[in-house]
Amino acid sequence: MQLTVFTDYAALSDQAAREMIRTLEQKPDAVICMASGSSPKGCCERFVQLATSSGIDLSQFFFIGLDEWVGLTPGMPGSCSHDFFTRLFDPLSIPASQYHLFDPVAADMQAECEKMDTIIREKGGIDLMIVGIGLNGHIGFNEPGTPFTLLSHVIDLDATTIAVGQEKYFTTPVELKQGITLGLGHLMHTRKVLLLANGTGKASVIKEAAEGPVTSALPASIMQQHPDGYIWLDKEAAAMLSE
Ligand code: GLP
Repeated sequence: MQLTVFTDYAALSDQAAREMIRTLEQKPDAVICMASGSSPKGCCERFVQLATSSGIDLSQFFFIGLDEWVGLTPGMPGSCSHDFFTRLFDPLSIPASQYHLFDPVAADMQAECEKMDTIIREKGGIDLMIVGIGLNGHIGFNEPGTPFTLLSHVIDLDATTIAVGQEKYFTTPVELKQGITLGLGHLMHTRKVLLLANGTGKASVIKEAAEGPVTSALPASIMQQHPDGYIWLDKEAAAMLSE
């Protein structure tokens, strides 16, 4: 794992977007997986600018949504899919044939997990994953205690995740109980992983993830073991690091 501190969130987002472009230049049919939420927002905006101005071929890549809140109306504001539609699919006119997202209201959630795992396997694995980190150290909805080996699964959400989620992403009250997510087994099989974090609020959990013991109690600590894993921070998120 390598850790880089950028001058600010704009610089971090620019580099992450350029990494997406580089991936697609080298492999136009790359599989890219992304988290929703605030951390990758700037990266998505910059990617739309760069992809549009460069005219890069976007007709072959495949997008995987990292996670979703179970039970929400698909595409509702605040949902993960809403982020993907408004940030990427709509501005870049990405057709439905080029992405797969978890269905948060699937009748059979186990089958929904198996479907995701099958798609990833049939696509030849994930080339680039861009994730954020929760205040409790989660990646996607891999909450503290989740085994590092899991693939897609449904999980009961932590109280912290529910409280932060309700306040941060939704303007109206919603019932958040469970999440459906790719597992850390997927992350470890992904060829390259970027974890993005910005802001003072992430400083403490970043210190734990980057400098603490590798433990399922702090899922993001798995980044330390990824052979091509990168933690990209702004100065605020890096403020508590010792090195
Ligand atoms: C959310 C999502 C994650 C996201 C993380 C951090 O609950 N499940 O996919 O990466 O928490 O979100 P943010 O980037 O908004 O801080």
